[in-house]
Amino acid sequence: MKLSLIAAVSENGIIGSGLDIPWSVKGEQLLFKAMTYNQWLIVGRKTFESMGKLPNRKYAVITRSPRESDDEDVFYFSSIDNALSTLKNVTDHAFVSGGGEIYKALVNSADTLHISTVHKEIDGDVFFPKIPNGYRKVFEQSFSSNLDYTYRIWQKGGQEI
Ligand SMILES: NC(=O)c1ccc[n+]([C@@H]2O[C@H](COP(=O)([O-])OP(=O)(O)OC[C@H]3O[C@@H](n4cnc5c(N)ncnc54)[C@H](OP(=O)(O)O)[C@@H]3O)[C@@H](O)[C@H]2O)c1
Repeated sequence: MKLSLIAAVSENGIIGSGLDIPWSVKGEQLLFKAMTYNQWLIVGRKTFESMGKLPNRKYAVITRSPRESDDEDVFYFSSIDNALSTLKNVTDHAFVSGGGEIYKALVNSADTLHISTVHKEIDGDVFFPKIPNGYRKVFEQSFSSNLDYTYRIWQKGGQEI
């Protein structure tokens, strides 16, 4: 199973403040929605509870207190390894979709990183991990919005642009 990671990160590495994303960037969410349509998302319990679920996605929610789900699109797993070993039997691709703990645990395992950098320093307390060595930037596009941002794709072992 291939893993991709998708995140929006401020200039100073922030992805969240408490349970919230401490900015609103017009247009940036469209990237997330388009990329994750009909996909499996791997999320930490805090992210799932704060963001809720979008239709047409399946959620693998990681929690140390797993429970039965009454939603056919939501599955709880007691560990990341349990989630990965189950998902590999049902899909060939999943998106690592946050938050901080899940990004940190899986950033090394993702084949591709889709990262929007929001061009502002923002206060917060949840950070994106350092992009590990070995990832190459293979795509870059800048967008003007209420907060300008640049979308980049990083690929493990890719050819630098
Ligand atoms: N900017 C972005 O693109 C973006 C995207 C997503 C989220 N966020 C932000 O990220 C923040 C949330 O991140 P976070 O780091 O605080 O929380 P998180 O990663 O969303 O969830 C943490 C929870 O996941 C479970 N967990 C983590 N590692 C586990 C493991 N190895 N085994 C079993 N369960 C595990 C635990 O749940 P239990 O406590 O239930 O055991 C833990 O409390 C929020 O501010 C959110 O808005 C930002």
